[in-house]
Amino acid sequence: MIKKILLALLAVLFIVQLIRPEENVSDSVSVNDISAKYEVPEDVHLILQKACTDCHSNNTVYPWYANFQPMAWYLDDHIQDGKRHFNLSEFLAYEPWRAHHKLEELEEEVEENKMPLDEYVRMHEEANLTSVERIKLLNWSKGIRAEMAADSTLDLTRPKRKK
Ligand code: HEC
Repeated sequence: MIKKILLALLAVLFIVQLIRPEENVSDSVSVNDISAKYEVPEDVHLILQKACTDCHSNNTVYPWYANFQPMAWYLDDHIQDGKRHFNLSEFLAYEPWRAHHKLEELEEEVEENKMPLDEYVRMHEEANLTSVERIKLLNWSKGIRAEMAADSTLDLTRPKRKK
């Protein structure tokens, strides 16, 4: 009996390997990528790449275990959730006030050490940012916010909520 159950479980495990979420990989640079308008210095680019863009851009660099279920689903869940909250590849598509606010959120998350997610850091040692890297990221974000605030073509007032 137990043998049959185990065999059935094994069969299910084999079958779910065939079901894959669509990969978050785009083959072109998005026109709305933050770097299309704002400067992303090489050192900041590298920090974002090793700690953030797997979940906050249109391009994830997948680890080998992403080829297996249920890991693929678990990772996809984080990626979709991360992208929905903040997508560096779609940054210029946000309304200006919202883009500005997202950067404030970024600073908050980085200052409070909430990003990158712990689960991610556990699997990606290099994403465990040093305080120098955190400061670089914060200064970069603050710089873009200052640039946005100085740009008279951008309206940064948050629309009032409708009653
Ligand atoms: C493993 C995936 C993952 C990585 C890596 C990651 N994030 Fe996130 N991020 C998420 C998820 C999921 C959420 C939404 C849920 C939450 O807030 O915990 C989120 C939320 C955020 C938000 C909040 C946006 C809002 O509207 O509240 C910001 C900003 C953010 N992340 C920035 C970063 C930055 C900066 C890095 C790199 C230093 C990073 N994240 C790394 C998955 C990730």
